Amino acid sequence: MSNDFRALFDLPREVTYLNCAYMGPLPTASVEAGMASYRAKARPWTVKAPDDFFSGPDTLRDEAARLFGGSAEHVALVPAASYGLATAARNLKPAKGSEILVLKDQFPSNVYTWRVLAQRSGATLRTAARSGNQSWTDAVLDAIGPQTSVLALPQVHWADGGSLDLEAIAGAARQQGAALVLDLTQSLGAKPFNVKTIDPDFAVSACYKWLLGPYTMGVMHIAKRHLSGVPLEENWIAREGSQDFARLVDYADGYAPGARRFDMGERSGFQLVPAAVESIRLLNRVGVETVARTLAETTRALADSVRDLGVKDDVPDRADHYLCLGLPDGAPRDLAARLGKHNVHVSQRGDRLRVTPHLYNDAGDITRFADAMKAALS
Ligand SMILES: Cc1ncc(COP(=O)(O)O)c(C=O)c1O
Repeated sequence: MSNDFRALFDLPREVTYLNCAYMGPLPTASVEAGMASYRAKARPWTVKAPDDFFSGPDTLRDEAARLFGGSAEHVALVPAASYGLATAARNLKPAKGSEILVLKDQFPSNVYTWRVLAQRSGATLRTAARSGNQSWTDAVLDAIGPQTSVLALPQVHWADGGSLDLEAIAGAARQQGAALVLDLTQSLGAKPFNVKTIDPDFAVSACYKWLLGPYTMGVMHIAKRHLSGVPLEENWIAREGSQDFARLVDYADGYAPGARRFDMGERSGFQLVPAAVESIRLLNRVGVETVARTLAETTRALADSVRDLGVKDDVPDRADHYLCLGLPDGAPRDLAARLGKHNVHVSQRGDRLRVTPHLYNDAGDITRFADAMKAALS
């Protein structure tokens, strides 16, 4: 395929979009797939029953399975990371007095769920923090012990871009008999991941960031040992025999096979699923290794372009695709807004500037970022 990735998106030349960790843009092919399904909804007789209710979701399972390095039968469709995490919490039983481990300043969807489970089960929520230049991995390994029952972690910290060595952490978790639940929203599709080597109990990702998909759509991988678990909802289409629309009130006790029991209600998602399929298909065509390599070069070039301004790329374990820059003393608190006036779009998270590119960014964006930073910091 052509490597003019920018041409696959609706990104005006004068806009420098470096905010994928906030929201990835939809590729034009995904917009068109979504529009086609809206047009079909205007003429409901063109929606083919039962096929259209099943084929789109199963195609999305196939595409998502490639990103997880697993099988489509283990993939459920969810509306949000929080939904997947709630499903995980519903299926785990931490012992009274045990610890559920999260990172300091972890994204709230992956904290509130565990606070509630801890309260319900008499477990404690423990927060692993870095000390000094310590890596997140070491902070987690130091915190794991016989008391650990659940590790609820990301692969990349959303606010500082630090990455976790999930293989090492998974090994330590396994030794203690602790469950591993992953929120991959800031890494799946941009950083290699493989359920075969990490074997998480549950791993979820929202689609609207690095997967370049629509909002209110997510994908979740469920380990074999949980496939007979309890879903959050009891929706009709997740039951055995739901393809036969004439006999839906012959209520079934069994679920549809694989991870389908965990699908959200109305998972056929006519307006969302086709767009998500196109987006993830694009990533699979390019290949996650290539995406990761390309973004590593781009983040390096972005960091280099502002080094002379006293801006530091100093997160010790930063993920290759994810730049969270340390700012010089006296940097304006509204720096992101100032850059926005130059049509350069980034986020400020805590005291860092989060600069997150994707395949559509090019050399022109790096120059515009550097020029806008110079103007905003001087
Ligand atoms: C790490 C992480 N997880 C999840 C989300 C989104 O959560 P949800 O899908 O529950 O809205 C975000 C959004 O910023 C995030 O950064």
